[in-house]
Amino acid sequence: MRCYDLYMKVNDKAYRSIWLNEDGWSVDIIDQTRLPHEFIIKTLQNLEDAAEAIAVMRVRGAPLIGATAAYGVALALRQNPTATHLVETCETLLATRPTAVNLRWALAKAQRLLSGLPREQRVEKAYVMAADICNEDVAINQAIGRHGLDVIRRLWQKKPDDSGAFQILTHCNAGWLATVDWGTALAVIYKAHNEGIPLHVWVDETRPRNQGAALTAWELAAHGVPHDVVVDNVGGHLMQHAQVDMCITGTDRTARNGDVCNKIGTYLKALAAKDNGVPFYVALPGPTIDWQTKDGLNEIPIEIRDSTEVTHVAGKNTAGEVDRVQITPDGVSACNFAFDVTPARLVTGLITERGICEASEAGLLDLYPERKGQTA
Ligand code: MRU
Repeated sequence: MRCYDLYMKVNDKAYRSIWLNEDGWSVDIIDQTRLPHEFIIKTLQNLEDAAEAIAVMRVRGAPLIGATAAYGVALALRQNPTATHLVETCETLLATRPTAVNLRWALAKAQRLLSGLPREQRVEKAYVMAADICNEDVAINQAIGRHGLDVIRRLWQKKPDDSGAFQILTHCNAGWLATVDWGTALAVIYKAHNEGIPLHVWVDETRPRNQGAALTAWELAAHGVPHDVVVDNVGGHLMQHAQVDMCITGTDRTARNGDVCNKIGTYLKALAAKDNGVPFYVALPGPTIDWQTKDGLNEIPIEIRDSTEVTHVAGKNTAGEVDRVQITPDGVSACNFAFDVTPARLVTGLITERGICEASEAGLLDLYPERKGQTA
């Protein structure tokens, strides 16, 4: 697959969300825990740095987690290229976050491509593999954007002439920060915006980590896409009042049956969309499909994160400093489910790099026929 140019820009400079440093071995990332208030680049130098970056969400979003894990393997093998260390490295990285299947996909690929090689070839091949995963992700996302643009064009043409901008609701961050470049759901939005379709995006804040308020809003502003951040519970109201023409989200794992796991709260938006006749699309790259999981609702592991993410909120104070405050009573008990599963029956269509399909095993297999009969 062809590698596309860097696309997304920060202060007019094009960036990917992860890249190989000029020294040829260390890896730079944008530290997403510091956005939107600070733009900090962090260098990963070893396995521990890569695992920490994924676990504390300096990098996040399913495709970017997979890409970071791939570079984590390269950094680890540079320290010690033995087959035993490759296995231990994959175990360490796999334990960082349980839900996004791209992590498991990238690590399985690493084991498959690297374990049989002579140890002196492993490091170089691991770096090539990581770069390939990144380049492939960019190409995939561009293709998702093109297919999704067709959906928006079609829906836009049906909208009455005097009804204003095409209104899209999105949840969490499925933009270039969640991938290597372009994004999945936001690639569709960027393509439609670039095409000149007048858009307005409702950005769910996405408690508790606020990926919508902090990251999606930051991305859309940089790209000039009109948007408003709304609190997570507004979507239903907007849909009841015909203020949403389409919902589109990304996904961390889509099961073989078309069930879609994504950031907590996605399911409620899909329910509201169904009740109000609003199309609900999910954009995803092939590596986010978990062919081993037959029933997403009952089988996908849901990450439970630290309760302090619920009890505390970070932001910029009036002195312009980034601060963190407690919003709950002292000693409160809180529970932090990070993802939920939207059953396939609530999804209008899956937008992949190969085209659009029904959210079902048959729909997915139409696009990925090589998976017929395979369960791994
Ligand atoms: O917890 P996060 O921020 O890693 O969750 C990210 C999401 O839920 C995204 O919607 C998903 O990874 C798809 S992004 C292309």
